[in-house]
This record gives sequence, C-alpha cells and structure tokens, in this order.
Amino acid sequence: MPTLPSPDADPAVLQVWGGSSLQGHVKISGAKNSALVLITAALLCSEDCRLRNVPSLVDVTRIGQILVSLGVKLKQQDDILNINASTISKSKAPYELVSQLRASFFAIGPLLARLGSACVPLPGGCTIGARPVALHVRGLQLMGADVQIEHGMVNAHVRGNRGRLQGAKIYLDYPSVGATETLMMAATLAQGETIIENAAQEPEVVDLANFCNSMGAKIRGAGTNTIVISGVSRLHSTDYSIIPDRVEAATFLVAGAITYSEISMSPVVPEHLTAAIAKLQDIGVQVVTEGSDCLRVIPSHNLVATDIETLPYPGFPTDMQAQFMALLALSEGNSLVSETVFENRLRHVPELNRMGADIRVKNNHAIIRGVPLLTGAPVVATDLRASAALVLAGLAAQGKTTIQGLHHLDRGYENLEAKFLGLGAKLERVPQSVAIANDAFSPINSDALISS
Ligand code: EPZ
Repeated sequence: MPTLPSPDADPAVLQVWGGSSLQGHVKISGAKNSALVLITAALLCSEDCRLRNVPSLVDVTRIGQILVSLGVKLKQQDDILNINASTISKSKAPYELVSQLRASFFAIGPLLARLGSACVPLPGGCTIGARPVALHVRGLQLMGADVQIEHGMVNAHVRGNRGRLQGAKIYLDYPSVGATETLMMAATLAQGETIIENAAQEPEVVDLANFCNSMGAKIRGAGTNTIVISGVSRLHSTDYSIIPDRVEAATFLVAGAITYSEISMSPVVPEHLTAAIAKLQDIGVQVVTEGSDCLRVIPSHNLVATDIETLPYPGFPTDMQAQFMALLALSEGNSLVSETVFENRLRHVPELNRMGADIRVKNNHAIIRGVPLLTGAPVVATDLRASAALVLAGLAAQGKTTIQGLHHLDRGYENLEAKFLGLGAKLERVPQSVAIANDAFSPINSDALISS
C-alpha cells in the first residue's frame, strides 16, 4: 500500500510534454470505488476474507488504516488483501482518518449491523459538492436504528433490546451510490427482508452485492433500481476478485483519442463503458472490443463536438466528465456539458482555459467552443478527475504543462505515470523546487488536502 501524503514543503508536481503519439497496451487496475466499499464490507464477516485485484492507492491505504483502528487485522501481498474482522473491538471510527476519506462513512452500515452500534464522523463536504448523508441516515432509521448527530459525530445504535436491525422498505429520493451501498451492507445481517427502491445501479454496487453473496448473504436485484436483501445471521469466509476500474479505462480511452493514438487496454468489462464508448463514437472515435475483456481505440483526426449530461448509471458517469471535457476542448464545434450529479464539479474549466481552451460556465453547464490546439501551462488539480483531465490535456498540448495538486491524482490512479511512460508519453514527477529551478514556473496557491 502506498504511504500517505504528508504536508510537504516541496510537494511533487507533474511535468507533461505534449505532442507525442501513444502506442501499445495498458493494464487496467482494480476499481477504486469497488475496493473501498468491499474492504469496508469485510467488517460484516467474522471469518477470513481475501480480496484480489486491490489497487495500490492512497484511499485504499486510508480505509485500511480505519479498519485497523477498529481492531481488524490486515495483511497485504501485492494486490491481494487478507482481512480478518473477527475481533473488531470498537464501533467508533477516528475523526482524523475518516475526515480524509468520505467513503469511510459507509462503514456505519456494517458496524451497526454487526455490533448494534456505530459512531462515525459526519463527512464534511469536499471540492465537488456538499455531499450530505441524509439518505444513509434515513434508511438506517427505517431499519430500526436510533441516529443522533452531535459534535460532528453520527451516533447510531439499534433501538430497544433487539440488538439486530430490522428489514424495511426504503425508497431513495435519489439513486445515491453510497446510500445504496451503506443500506445494502446493513440489511445483509438484519432480521427479515429489506427492499431498496430507486437504488443506484452502478457496477460497483453489483460488485459489492456479489462480494457479500460470496460470503453467504442473500442479495437479489443489484444492478436494477430495486434491490431485495434477505438478512442472514452471519457470513463466512471468501476469496473474491474486484472488478476492473471503468473510470481508469475511460481515462485511457480518452488518452488515445486526444493524442490521435491507437492503444489497447485490459482487463475491462466493456458493458461498464457503454455510455463512454457511445460518446466517443459521437465525437468520431471508434472503440473496438477484442476478446471479452480488451478495448482498442481507433483514433480520428476529425474530432467533432457533442453534448454530454452526467447522470446516475447507466447514464454518462460524472467521474468521466472532466476527462471528456478535455477532449471536447479540441473537438470542432460547440459542445454543452451539463454536470447534474455534483453541484461543484466544473473547477477544471479555468485550468483548461489557462491552456488555451475556450470554455464558459453558467451554473452547472459548460459551453465549450472547440479550439485547434492547446498549449502547455502551469495548472492546478482541484479534485481527482480534474487532475486526470489536466494530464490528458497536457499530453495533447504543445510544449510543457506543469500540474500541481498531485495528492488528488494519487488517491484514485495506480501508477499513472508509469502506465503513460509505458505507452510512450513524455512526463515526469519532480519536486516543485526542481520545476521552479528548471524554468520560470511559479507555483499557484493550491486547494486544501480534503478528498472526495
Ligand atoms: C460515489 O460517491 C463515488 N465514490 C464517486 O466517485 C462518484 O462520483 C459518485 O458515487 C457518483 O457516481 C465512491 O464510490 C467512493 P452519491 P457517493 O451518494 O456515493 C447526493 C470519484 O471520482 N446525495 O451517489 O458519495 C450527493 O450530494 C468519486 O471516484 C444526497 O443528496 O455519491 C450527490 O450530489 C467522486 N444525499 C449525489 O447524491 C445523500 O444522502 C450523488 O452522490 C447522499 C447523496
């Protein structure tokens, strides 16, 4: 697992020299958004759990630290993580760790289900939005939990002396990924049947259900908008492999398109990328499936504008919006990108404009007038996917781009530089002081370290 970033007087920056075409094949890592919740779900099980294809990411290190603080034993070897939660002793997750990783809030579900009580810090907002958790809390209350929010902590315990959560019918006002996952985990050990309606249908939700079912849970309907969970009294050990990261794969699809390069990638689940592949075809880029788990980008030099609206799955994913905006910045004509999932996820626009893009923002819409080329510049990453978009823009731009705020990138991309170097890209991570010494680069004031 990578070491956690510490406030650094000389933080690293990424220098990207654009204009090279890419070639070859890239290996796609395990999915970050699956790994985080599957590791959390291991809290439900009092026997050994083995997870394979675990990506080496800062966020994975963080969720591991939170579990260890609760008394869980972890052993990692390469991309295999052995988890034993038989001796969890605490139901209170430490503020300093949870505040660094929003997804750790989802632990409230398995802790409450397993121990009958849970105390988890209320995750604050982040750079992309307010990120409330009311849907999580409401669902747990319907399952018989008493939930108090005091001093920034969410204290939950099973009402009365039943000790176990009770099955319930829960309608989600919004198909929240996190709320669906938290409630699905809680319902796994509840008494009776739980029905989650208007549930999220993301592949990571399905991966979580499959993981829980491999431990003996009874979950049906994951991947549809209605999930039915018949509670069981306990779960057993498992050996499970995490799905490939569809967002990382989409980032490399765009890398091929934006550098006019033919590259391939695997393993992927092509169906998980249907919306992204459809938009690439609208832009003029062909994507072919080779075998069952490999995709190849067939580039085009005539990129054309198209409109994108982010939506819950199977709609176009918000986690791919920034990367596609970098591509649309170089596509002929006017594109409209509407971000409907998060209220503050267009912060990469001024940075792309610094590189010569022509993008205007009005509320949650970005109007993009395609330009013939981008030029390298010093830019700042404001969140995880924005950082990926700036790397892609840098690969396409003339000259050198220097990207600050790499702590965002390291949260969600495993060995991104090595993978791009393997495809023939020119980029290098250097201490900021070296970048300053190399040329007239002066650092721009970057965001706080909070992560989504
Ligand atoms: C997950 O976040 C992902 N994170 C996000 O990926 C992803 O962008 C998001 O789903 C949407 O696909 C992980 O899986 C760890 P939501 P999550 O609950 O679960 C509102 C990345 O880049 N909402 O589906 O937090 C919320 O404010 C990250 O990898 C409520 O209003 O997302 C947002 O506007 C970023 N009340 C919308 O729903 C609630 O109780 C979608 O949020 C919960 C959510």
